[in-house]
Parts: sequence; C-alpha cells; structure tokens
Amino acid sequence: MITLDLLLSKPDLHTNTIFVLRHPDDLPAGLVNTEEAGYIRRSLEDKNTTTVEINRYDYVWYFVFPADVAGESLQLEKARKTGDILVKEISRLKVPEITVYNHSADAEWCMALAEGMTLGGYQFLKYKTDRDEKLIRLNTIKIWSEGLNNRQIMMKNRLNEAVYMCRDFVNEPVINLSATQLAEGISELLSTTGIKTEIFNKKKIESLKMGGLLAVNRGSSEPPTFTVLEWKPENAVNENPVILVGKGVTFDTGGMNIKTGSFMDHMKTDMTGAATMASVIYAAAATRLPVYVIALLPATDNRINSDAVVSGDVIEMHSGKTVEILNTDAEGRLILADALSYAQNYNPMLVITAATLTGSAARAIGRFGIVAMQAKASEQMQLLKECGEDVYERIAEFPFWDEYAELIKSDIADLKNVGPLEGGAITAGKFLEAFTNYPFIHLDIAGTSYAEKRDSYRNQGATGTGVRLLFSFLAKVAGKA
Ligand code: BES
Ligand code: ZN
Ligand code: ZN
Repeated sequence: MITLDLLLSKPDLHTNTIFVLRHPDDLPAGLVNTEEAGYIRRSLEDKNTTTVEINRYDYVWYFVFPADVAGESLQLEKARKTGDILVKEISRLKVPEITVYNHSADAEWCMALAEGMTLGGYQFLKYKTDRDEKLIRLNTIKIWSEGLNNRQIMMKNRLNEAVYMCRDFVNEPVINLSATQLAEGISELLSTTGIKTEIFNKKKIESLKMGGLLAVNRGSSEPPTFTVLEWKPENAVNENPVILVGKGVTFDTGGMNIKTGSFMDHMKTDMTGAATMASVIYAAAATRLPVYVIALLPATDNRINSDAVVSGDVIEMHSGKTVEILNTDAEGRLILADALSYAQNYNPMLVITAATLTGSAARAIGRFGIVAMQAKASEQMQLLKECGEDVYERIAEFPFWDEYAELIKSDIADLKNVGPLEGGAITAGKFLEAFTNYPFIHLDIAGTSYAEKRDSYRNQGATGTGVRLLFSFLAKVAGKA
C-alpha cells in the first residue's frame, strides 16, 4: 500500500515534489525561475487545469492549485480526484516516494489529495503473470503541512488499509473464496488488532436454527459460516454495541431462479457487505476508536444442486418467523434476517446492514450513491448523511412506510421473500426490518460496490465504498472526528 508519512521539518525540495498552493502568486520565493513561473501561469489560464508539471530532468515538480468549487464536500472530492490523476503520472516515474509540500492550502485538502493518491494507486495484480512490470513502485507519500499531526496520518493509513482490504476480498473470485475461506481470511487479517473473532460452523448454525442461512446454503457443496467480530475497548463511549451486519454471499447464481445473460458476471462481489463490515471494524480497532462495535457476517454461496430450495418452499427462520420463498434470487435478505434476529441478543444501540441487496436500488439511483432506509434511527441517519457528504460516499434515503410491509405478507407463511417489482429495494428493507426490534439503518450498496469502468480513485472493480463512510460515522460516535 502507499502509506503517508508526516515530515516534521521542511524537506529538501529539489526532489520529486507536489507543491500545493492557493494561488500562483504564492509560489515560494526563489523556487522557480521567471520562465517557469510564466509557464505555470499560462498553463493555469490556458488549459482550465489545476495541475502543472515542470520537468527538471533529475526530478519532477507538480504544482497543484485547489480548484475554486463551491462547498467543502466538493472541494475535498476534487482533491481526491486530483490525487488519482497525480498517482498515475507519478507511477510512470517509477519512484518509491514523493513529497507533498503544502505551501499555502488547507491541511485537510492535502490529506484528501494524498487519500486519492493511495486509493487511486490500488492494484489487484494477483492473477496477472506480468504483475512485476505492472506494479506501481510508489510506496510512500511524505507530507509536509502545517496543521497535521501523527495521529491523523496514522488514522488515514489504517483507513486506507481497510479500503484495500475490502477491495482485495471483493475482487477475489469465488474459486478461492468460499464462505470458510472468507471467514478465515478475515479472522487472520484481524488477528493483530485486539478484535475477538468467532466463526460458527454449519453444526453451530444448525443448533442456532438459522433457517434462512441454511436454506440458501442447501444448494451448495460448501458449508456456510457465521462470523462474529467484537471490538470492545475498555474506554468505549457506548455500553450497548453498534452492530454491523454484512451480506456475505460469496457467489450469487440466483439459485433455481437462475440469473441469465450477463446478470451473473460480477456476482463474486455479492459478499461486499461482509467485506465492508470486516474492514470497518478493522479500521476501528487499528485506530483504537473508543467505541464498542460488533460485526455479524453470515456467509454462503447461492448455487444449485438437487437439494436447492425451490419456489413455494416454506422455511423457519432463526427468529421463529416463517418465510415462503417465492424467488431463490432474493437470498440476501434470508441470510441477513437471521443475523438481525441474532443481533437482538446484544441489546444494540444501533444496527446497520450493508448489502448488495437489490438490482432495484442500483436501477433507482445508479452508481452515485448508497440507498438507505431507517427505522427508529432518524438522528443517526442524519449523522450518517453528513459523513456521506464529508467522504463523498453519499446517501439517498428512501421512504420506509408501513404500506411497503403489506406487500411482503405471504398467503401461507408470515412473510414471503419478494414483493412486486416496484419499490423492490424498499420491500427488501422492510423484510429485514421484520427481524429487528432496535434502531436500524439499512444500506443497499448494489449500485456502488463495483465499478465496471475505472471511476477515478474508486478504481476499477471493487470500490470499497461504504468503508470510509462507516468509519467516519464510528469516529463521530466515538467523539474522535
Ligand atoms: N445480489 C443480488 C442483487 C444485485 C444485483 C447486486 C446487481 C449487485 C448488482 C440479489 O441477491 C438479487 O438477486 N436480488 C434480486 C431480488 C429480486 C429477485 C426480488 C434483484 O434485485 O433482482
Ligand atoms: Zn440474488
Ligand atoms: Zn445476492
């Protein structure tokens, strides 16, 4: 990973450096010659650009001028995007480090620039045989800026690690990521953080009567897992935990209602919710956030064999409620529902789900935001929305009216697992709500989890969207942001 390193004394500037300046009039005295100064000014006027490169042969200087866009959220997003452009430029130099020298801009803007560089510099090269040639050599960004301290830099490094971790899991194909491999992989990565990890195997899941998870798993030759992660620091601000529940469908074929055409292409990403929640709790523990957090990660693939569930089957859930399965492709809500009723044991202050739950959410707002719903958690939702603006992982809150719950009542069981086509993201949320008795926020990340084409620092493939959002939320709950 590309890590950030805070410089405590002014660095030697005659090396590869990114200068961040409010205005060309601010150019440090004596740094550039008149010709270069003229070039910088002309470039800024001519090309509608905010970045100017000066190549001095032994080293390269980049001059970056934060654009004058309205609003802090957009300013910071522009910084991240500029970071992404710069990291691509710098990777051509094949140098291991670069200095960011903040001459006259906001420290926060520089941090966002560096964040965009690190996240834009993510690569998933595991399966490329020419990975050595493709590998970006840059591994350190040295920052010199007033108004930054080591703790902020450490927090950003840990958070960036968490985003990398999430992307790595999501990009991994199911051939190397069964439910067991996912659970064990997470447990291994968290082993140094002080997080308590417990992986329930199929026998334990059966003894807990998690009928939803077991029903989805029936068509699979791989056993399911249910992972419980706990970060409980002594100085936690909350007595009752915040619980993060993540959908861990390691591959979604659709089951008997099989996905046709290209709809199955990216379904290795259907465990993004689980990867997101594991990464968020990792970041919380690695930065020692004083907040009590639990993550619950039900996991299985959704496949077909002669034992697979079919339409019309009625199952009994962990909560005791019965569900008529009318579409085997609506499997995520079945495994999440068991985790949500299990969460009741902890008397949580808030439960948040993250799930690639419905195509309906993605169709409604595309890839530009996360679809969210809440019950008994309007204040927390407000806070989450603010975090969404800060980190530019924005939230669109959907209505969550009682009428939608009417649409998933079954003729022969308590609930059915699908409603009508219209409002599909909301009826899925209502299904989940039926298994809760606490403040609840549901995030449908189907639209944001994966970028078909490269989307700036969000990269191509797994984006890790949701990790920065929820970390920022937990940091606010902990009073550390
Ligand atoms: N994993 C899918 C949702 C999905 C679709 C995620 C596209 C990412 C991209 C989910 O399990 C699913 O298949 N949902 C169905 C529900 C329907 C059968 C009610 C859907 O959205 O079509
Ligand atoms: Zn499905
Ligand atoms: Zn799914």
